[in-house]
Amino acid sequence: MTTGPADEAPLVEGLAAEHAAGSHADPAARAAELRALIRYHADRYHRDDAPEIADAEYDALVVELQHLEGSHPELATPDSGSRTVGAAPLAQFVPVRHAVPMMSLDNVFSPKEFHAWGDRVERLAAAVPEVGDGAVRVVCEPKIDGLAVSLRYERGRLVQAATRGDGTTGEDVTANVATIRAIPARLALDPGDVPEVLEVRGEVYLPVSAFEALNRRQAAAGLRRFANPRNSAAGSLRQKDPAVTASRPLSFWAYQIGEVDGGAAGPRGARLGSHAEALELVRRAGLPVNPETRTVDGLAAAYEFCRHWQDHRHDLDYEIDGVVAKVNDLALQRALGATSRAPRWAIAYKFPPEERTTLLEEILVSIGRTGRATPYAKLTPVAVAGSTVEYATLHNEDQVAGKGVRPGDTVIVRKAGDVIPEVVGAVPARRPADSVPWRFPERCPSCASPLVRLDGEADTYCVNLECAAQRVQRLAHFCSRTAMDIEGLGEQRVTQLVAAGMLADVADVYALDARALAPIEGFGELSAANLVAAIESSRSAGLARLLVGLSIRHVGSTVAEQLSVHFADLDALAAADETRLGAVDGVGSVIAQSVHAFFGATRNHAVIEKLRAAGVSFASARHGGSGEGGPAQTLAGRSVVVTGTLEGFTREEAEAAIIARGGKSPGSVSAKTAALVVGADPGAAKTARADALGIPVLDEAGFVRLLETGETG
Ligand code: IVH
Repeated sequence: MTTGPADEAPLVEGLAAEHAAGSHADPAARAAELRALIRYHADRYHRDDAPEIADAEYDALVVELQHLEGSHPELATPDSGSRTVGAAPLAQFVPVRHAVPMMSLDNVFSPKEFHAWGDRVERLAAAVPEVGDGAVRVVCEPKIDGLAVSLRYERGRLVQAATRGDGTTGEDVTANVATIRAIPARLALDPGDVPEVLEVRGEVYLPVSAFEALNRRQAAAGLRRFANPRNSAAGSLRQKDPAVTASRPLSFWAYQIGEVDGGAAGPRGARLGSHAEALELVRRAGLPVNPETRTVDGLAAAYEFCRHWQDHRHDLDYEIDGVVAKVNDLALQRALGATSRAPRWAIAYKFPPEERTTLLEEILVSIGRTGRATPYAKLTPVAVAGSTVEYATLHNEDQVAGKGVRPGDTVIVRKAGDVIPEVVGAVPARRPADSVPWRFPERCPSCASPLVRLDGEADTYCVNLECAAQRVQRLAHFCSRTAMDIEGLGEQRVTQLVAAGMLADVADVYALDARALAPIEGFGELSAANLVAAIESSRSAGLARLLVGLSIRHVGSTVAEQLSVHFADLDALAAADETRLGAVDGVGSVIAQSVHAFFGATRNHAVIEKLRAAGVSFASARHGGSGEGGPAQTLAGRSVVVTGTLEGFTREEAEAAIIARGGKSPGSVSAKTAALVVGADPGAAKTARADALGIPVLDEAGFVRLLETGETG
């Protein structure tokens, strides 16, 4: 994930400043407005599990109100949204009064704010005689983005589970919590160690992999998809029917104790001297404590922990939105005390948001190289996870309908672990009154020929092979790194040469020479010579790359490699019937049909003959299996899955390298997977699954070794 420099102006502060600008004319009116907004959005989030604004925008409202009350203390009210927590409980659950209030945390959004908190803590610590003036010990924990619950154990038995509610009164969710496997009904302590009362607090969450599976099931059943794991965890926990909760694989991380008395904790917890000791007791009692928790010396080390998880948050199979730093020493905690809303001894360092709301200005359609018409959203640019998002794919007609988005909607934009931004859905409350559902265009935006969607298919196509948009995409793909690898012929250049009438089909690339390029704007002698050299060397790229470059539907690097193992050259492949094609490993009837149809089309014959005449090699470098020229079959019959971005390989190159050594590279991890190769920003679900199945996980160096030797160790 890309993150800005450490001292970059934090986004949330920026938002608060944005809100604040223009609103100072009447601070009292603005404060009242902010309070109403905060109450409204807190109810949507905490009570209805249906937020209308992104978390960062909510945080910005609170920060603005705090600033405003700071500079105008006369405006502060006891029920101000800057001081209260959460929302009042829903009527359908029985209210539970917390023995010890469930406080919230103050947030910081930048290193500067974090260090300001740390300095204050250190100053106050120096004044507490029994603590002294050494480096303050701090417990650092991932801040889980789930739902806070309090579990009350009396004489070792779980007697009550409650949500946080407004911090004073929550909702009784005991029956639902009892279905969560990670939460024991009885504490696993020796009889003498069992406290009379132990209230364990923590976060109920849904693992990301379970969230994705749940949404797949929801979609298959024609039900509403959940916006994110937090909402689905909250929705799952607050079910009237515990059987529904039981069907959702919720989990739990304990991070705090509330009321405690007796047993190993001593009278009123007197034997517990530190937060780390309290967590250790909770862990011994059989509750899951997050294994990433670290106790560190001093604030610099605590900040290091924050930075680490900001960059690695997606390594985890649960969502975190920050890090919580807590003063370890309980005596010091007591000395530091709390405000009405949050303790002074803890702070939440919040990561830059990865979810924002913005305006969906238009839904447009782009035409790909196979003629596929893909709808995409043109958004009012918005900063998400450190970069600006202006466009996001909407995939196909059904996805637009499924997400329920319309032009003019305020939409939630998310950047998940990958770099690809996604429109999560619309905010219904902000839909303009005159909004109308979006309709897929009937004609191609490039060539105006009718668009076609076949029965049973999700995609819509422009079937006019002369379509200029398709032609540009086909040519750019032919020249791309995964295909013929002709550097210097990217989409822009290709568009220019198509417009100049120099490229009608992919074979025309081989007619480009220095003389032809000279009059084209932007080509100097050197760049023209480089391009000509790149075109020249692409003539010997070999069958697999050529097949990729021909844009045959369903033929990517993996299939092309397989075909090049089985067929000596393009002519042998073109002559094969569907049965022979279907006999190739990894080629089913759909692919066989597509390949056969491609070579049956007269217009493709003409292009193929032009390529032959231009001296492009049709021969397979791979023919003959492990014979001459091919690499050793170190992975014969084994499956290697790749996730994340590798430095030395594109995804296609990594897959091709696996296949070239006799292996397979499926898209998901199973018990049969020989190894999982992990690059930057890997898929959390894949790594979690590999861990669970005990499958070797390799970094890039390990991958290179695996290719060479077949060894995973
Ligand atoms: S400690 C008095 N620790 O964040 C301290 N909270 O924004 C109370 N949260 O209500 C909370 N991970 O729902 C704490 N490791 C962690 C946490 C955590 C997530 C949540 C919790 C809390 C909210 C405050």
